[in-house]
Amino acid sequence: MNRDVIYFDNAATSWPKPPQTIAAMQNYMQNIGGSPGRSGHRLSIEAARIVFDAREKLAQLFNVPDPLQIVLTRNATEGLNIAVFGFLKPGDHVITSGMEHNSVMRPLRAMEARGVGITVVPCDSDGLIDPGDVVKAIRKNTKAIFITNASNVTGTVMPVSDIGRLAREHGLVLCVDAAQTAGCFPIDVAEMNIDLLAFTGHKALFGPSGTGGLYIREGLEKGIEPICVGGTGSRSEVETQPDFMPDRFEAGTPNTVGIAGLRAGVEFVLAQGVAQIKSREEKLVRMFIEGVSDLPGIILYGRKSVDRRTPAVSFNIDGMDPAAVALELDEQFGVMSRSGLHCAPAAHKTIGTYPMGTVRFSFSFFNTEEQIIKSIEALKQIGKGRKNR
Ligand code: ALA
Repeated sequence: MNRDVIYFDNAATSWPKPPQTIAAMQNYMQNIGGSPGRSGHRLSIEAARIVFDAREKLAQLFNVPDPLQIVLTRNATEGLNIAVFGFLKPGDHVITSGMEHNSVMRPLRAMEARGVGITVVPCDSDGLIDPGDVVKAIRKNTKAIFITNASNVTGTVMPVSDIGRLAREHGLVLCVDAAQTAGCFPIDVAEMNIDLLAFTGHKALFGPSGTGGLYIREGLEKGIEPICVGGTGSRSEVETQPDFMPDRFEAGTPNTVGIAGLRAGVEFVLAQGVAQIKSREEKLVRMFIEGVSDLPGIILYGRKSVDRRTPAVSFNIDGMDPAAVALELDEQFGVMSRSGLHCAPAAHKTIGTYPMGTVRFSFSFFNTEEQIIKSIEALKQIGKGRKNR
């Protein structure tokens, strides 16, 4: 591991991964290698067991009653594509927020071109939505609410439970983008009335890239068309897609090595406990926010308190291009951040940083207080240099 590097880009993808993730992937590649659910030999059965166990662990984490309601995908984007393209029809209306990532906005805009109405509910300057405004946006033909659990730009956590209650009261489907929260924020699909939950495996679940999933509330799958069909290893005698879960939405040989890593990552999260991960990350965020608040030229975006936020923190240094700040952080101080619009132009319009964007630090369980101190010092130095430019 490169110990000179301070990796603060965990909202893009988490790094490092727990050793268990790497070991599980290596074990599958070296000792198992079979294709799950295809053949009858012991290596295929072993592979199928890994996939089933990954589903079970994910179900435990999100309080999903039946693990088979979890479709394993390449990423959160694929899960959201299934939800948007498979579920919505021309003439439907959907509600979303002014803080969405393009993984939500682009599929929705594509459906808008096919006759789906979209209302984007504006959020406040911290990126928070008012559930009352969601209610006001409901129309006769509203079918669903698509909302991020937390912004990848500001870390602001949306009042999903309140919106879930409203969705249930009004007979709407609630689809939540949990790319930034799965693994580091408590998610209970039953308690939060979430009908569709798209998540990624390579961020706070500590799996590899190329993994993720979509939870579909039991019964809802019948109203969702698969966007990819093909071989499943089941019902091989028929030339049409099986209609049962999860095969309805899982065509083609899966990313078994990735799923083996994801399973180990989720096991790690369950062993640590989401509450402990969250509180450790909150400590780092608090330390960072307190440490930079008084630095001259620093502009922080999003909530200044640690409640209802993830460990993604956006900021700028007054008068400096965020890309230049990120480059200097990397080249001079070994701090890895992400600058720009973070694939979420709507969010930057909401917080007033469009089109230049922000610098984003996103912390993880594996970051340390020492790294936070070093990064604050780095920003102090960069800020001082700003005056001489
Ligand atoms: N959505 C990811 C990010 O915010 C990739 O960096």
